[in-house]
Amino acid sequence: MKADILKLLLQSHAEGDESSFRKAALQLAAAESTAGHVRVAEEIRAIVAKMPATSTRRQGPVVDIAAPRGELADILEGGHREERLRDIVLRPEAEETLKRVLSENRSRARLERFGVSPRRRLLFHGAPGCGKTLAAAVLAGEMSLPLMTVRFDALFSRFLGATAVQLRAIFAEMPRRPGVYLFDEFDSVAKARGDSQDVGEMNRVVTAFLQLVDADMSGSILVAATNHVELLDRAVFRRFDVIVPFDRPTREQIVELMKLRLSTVGLTDDDATQLAANAIGWTFADVARACDDAVRTMALDDREEISERDVVLALEELKRRNVPARS
Ligand SMILES: Nc1ncnc2c1ncn2[C@@H]1O[C@H](COP(=O)(O)OP(=O)(O)O)[C@@H](O)[C@H]1O
Ligand SMILES: [Mg+2]
Repeated sequence: MKADILKLLLQSHAEGDESSFRKAALQLAAAESTAGHVRVAEEIRAIVAKMPATSTRRQGPVVDIAAPRGELADILEGGHREERLRDIVLRPEAEETLKRVLSENRSRARLERFGVSPRRRLLFHGAPGCGKTLAAAVLAGEMSLPLMTVRFDALFSRFLGATAVQLRAIFAEMPRRPGVYLFDEFDSVAKARGDSQDVGEMNRVVTAFLQLVDADMSGSILVAATNHVELLDRAVFRRFDVIVPFDRPTREQIVELMKLRLSTVGLTDDDATQLAANAIGWTFADVARACDDAVRTMALDDREEISERDVVLALEELKRRNVPARS
């Protein structure tokens, strides 16, 4: 166990991957603490706290082979992802579903020996800021596949009238470039555009999209995400193997998210439990934002430990600006 962490530590250092290095160091601290070496654990955490701020991008002249070139470059954004299951708070059923999809896709060959294939067409739905986009990144990170995000806004604004053609080009690309393909907010344009001609175009595009989803044999994971599940009819649902709802966090999930974000800077479980009461009804994204604001205050104050007050003030400030979306 510890050998694995040490290897990860060395490897991430060798690759200049600061964020993995930091995570490995914190895992080491956790392992020491579990082994009863509380003092060593604290010393390691103190060293991590003094490390310069991480940049999530890797340094050096690494060429990202996932980045699309040519005509698709504007509408298809690709990249490797660092997100893992431990970075997302999910309700148990959703977590089970995603883990199951991951194992099916990892065991593709074994499934195919028996004439079945992994489920890989996923529909994520729910309020904004509740983890749909993040979950797609987690799938990509866990599978070590690039996340290819289809930018529907670019697709529509630039190529109105030719959108179905562009979509077909993307689906043609999928077998050549294995990845997690995220069709994010694929219905958003339906709402944004008012006039009937555009709505007609939109319907044609959604229809074309669904046909392409049906016909796709690429083996890539395909995620369609929508904030407006009520606008979709049964025909849409039928085309997906797995449907995952993303809801606003329960109180327990708010606590979990606060711990995820703030326990490395010393927020206690008790504090998190207390503080969560102030964020009931918020989205995950709002809570994450308050946590980041609190860390900013702590850092500006030249402290290495967060105080309950930092979080209280951050939550109040967001509330005052009426940021938590109440949709
Ligand atoms: N379930 C979650 N667990 C942990 N963090 C979350 C979760 N949902 C949202 N977040 C935080 O909020 C940000 C925005 O969420 P996002 O995945 O873009 O929401 P959506 O796609 O549903 O609108 C994420 O990058 C993450 O920081
Ligand atoms: Mg999103």
